[in-house]
Amino acid sequence: MQASSQAEQTRERLIETYRHKARRYDLTARLSPVPGYPQHRLRLRAVRALNLRPGDFVVDVACGTGLNFPLIQRAIGPDGRIVGVDMTDAMLARAQERIESSGWRNVSLVLSDAAEFEFPTGADAIVSTYALTQVPDSAAVIRHGAAALSEGGRCVVLDLKIPGTAPRWLTQLGAAAIRPFAGIDEWMARRPWETIRAAMRQDLTEVSWSEPCLGTAFLGVGSRGRTR
Ligand SMILES: C[S@@+](CC[C@H](N)C(=O)[O-])C[C@H]1O[C@@H](n2cnc3c(N)ncnc32)[C@H](O)[C@@H]1O
Repeated sequence: MQASSQAEQTRERLIETYRHKARRYDLTARLSPVPGYPQHRLRLRAVRALNLRPGDFVVDVACGTGLNFPLIQRAIGPDGRIVGVDMTDAMLARAQERIESSGWRNVSLVLSDAAEFEFPTGADAIVSTYALTQVPDSAAVIRHGAAALSEGGRCVVLDLKIPGTAPRWLTQLGAAAIRPFAGIDEWMARRPWETIRAAMRQDLTEVSWSEPCLGTAFLGVGSRGRTR
């Protein structure tokens, strides 16, 4: 099979998976990757690392149902703006419901593969949570995003990873987290967090990298130029 059609099939499978998950995603996300995992606390930490101010313009890459939106809204207020990008129509439909039920008028959604998305220039911040390791060309997303950031703007990526020197049970925990979304063997072999880290170091400045929760997650933070 040609590489491009294989990539297309993988993408279609991922979209189908999230179409099935969309309706219950907000409930199940709280229990992911395992009940008790501080998934929401890490999300808060990621949004806080954006250093947002009232009026900021934020791009949420692979935004899903928009679980980051309330946290971002709290910081940017009604004069700010959010663009959420995702390739799964059903996830964006849930995000649209959230926008309408919250009465936000400053959020727009774009159905697109993150690697093909044309980032609007002048974004003050770019965030991606629990998604970028699923994007085969994550380096392109970082590259395009970094080029679109305004001077001093921040890019923050939070996702799961396999711990480096891990006890077997921890590796299995990581594997269990990813199994529903991707070929676990392919994901583990690809080690996408390493690609993301290298891309952030190449395309952004003042990059910090931490691996909380015994190395089962990573939080990458970088900026364009000097942090404002
Ligand atoms: C685990 S969910 C995370 C959603 C959200 N960021 C959150 O923190 O709850 C992963 C999301 O990534 C999206 N996604 C995966 N690969 C993508 C790609 N190549 N381009 C755009 N979205 C993608 C899926 O459609 C899904 O909505």
